[in-house]
Amino acid sequence: MDINNSVALVTGANRGLGRAFAQRLLERGARKVYATARRPESVDLPGVEVLPLDITDPASVRAAAEAAPDVSLLVNNAGIQTGTDLVTGSPAAVRQELETNVFGHLQMIREFAPTLARNGGGAIVNILSAMSWFGGRGAGAYHLTKAAAWAMTNGVRLELAEQGTLVTAVHLGLADTDMAAGWPVDKIAPSDLADAALDGVEAGSAEVLADQWSRDVKSRLPLTPEEFNTAMDHALAALTTT
Ligand SMILES: NC(=O)c1ccc[n+]([C@@H]2O[C@H](COP(=O)([O-])OP(=O)(O)OC[C@H]3O[C@@H](n4cnc5c(N)ncnc54)[C@H](OP(=O)(O)O)[C@@H]3O)[C@@H](O)[C@H]2O)c1
Repeated sequence: MDINNSVALVTGANRGLGRAFAQRLLERGARKVYATARRPESVDLPGVEVLPLDITDPASVRAAAEAAPDVSLLVNNAGIQTGTDLVTGSPAAVRQELETNVFGHLQMIREFAPTLARNGGGAIVNILSAMSWFGGRGAGAYHLTKAAAWAMTNGVRLELAEQGTLVTAVHLGLADTDMAAGWPVDKIAPSDLADAALDGVEAGSAEVLADQWSRDVKSRLPLTPEEFNTAMDHALAALTTT
């Protein structure tokens, strides 16, 4: 699929990766970019069409789908990280992460799939994480949501193949946004992440591993759980001491 002349819709486009996606889509020649946000007044990019959208509110998702019938590229980006442990953390926070990172993304896909079919198939970009494959203290809920979102992405890819919709999973370690502000380490620039994802869409890729961290984590999946956890402990220690 060509980004040039596409009509894209980006969730969480007011800041972070979503804002970078909207900007790079415009710069790469998208015909129209719907920049959606819970607070539409917080979108500050010239040249976009702003729509209100809370992905956890089915009525809001339905309204966005009705307002944007020409979409050919859906960028499912909006997400939260509440820093919640699974056993001792707030159950409400665990559920809110699932509502946003899994059910919110799935609701977007369910509402926009007919639109994409009508517009020739198109593509969906699901922003996942290297944390689809590992967790840790303070990130159990987030790992749960990204693992579930990875499985969801794999499932919808199969279900949407016959309507010709490309479903691209994008995994990354850390990007330089508010979400990763507490990690004073090297991070991918949001515009570079957006470009890697959009290059993947243009290449027809089912998966984009956008940085070395995500490639390294995925390469460890054949290890036993014990070996995997030891390798991750070493990698995390090296990350925070360099
Ligand atoms: N940054 C990283 O290191 C990193 C690493 C791996 C994966 N990711 C993933 O990348 C995606 C973007 O993250 P980011 O780093 O850009 O985070 P961010 O800077 O915290 O921005 C999150 C965005 O999601 C929006 N959002 C949250 N809940 C929403 C909802 N219910 N409906 C609509 N929008 C909602 C936020 O809107 P408000 O402004 O209204 O809060 C904001 O625009 C997420 O899916 C995240 O899990 C990020």
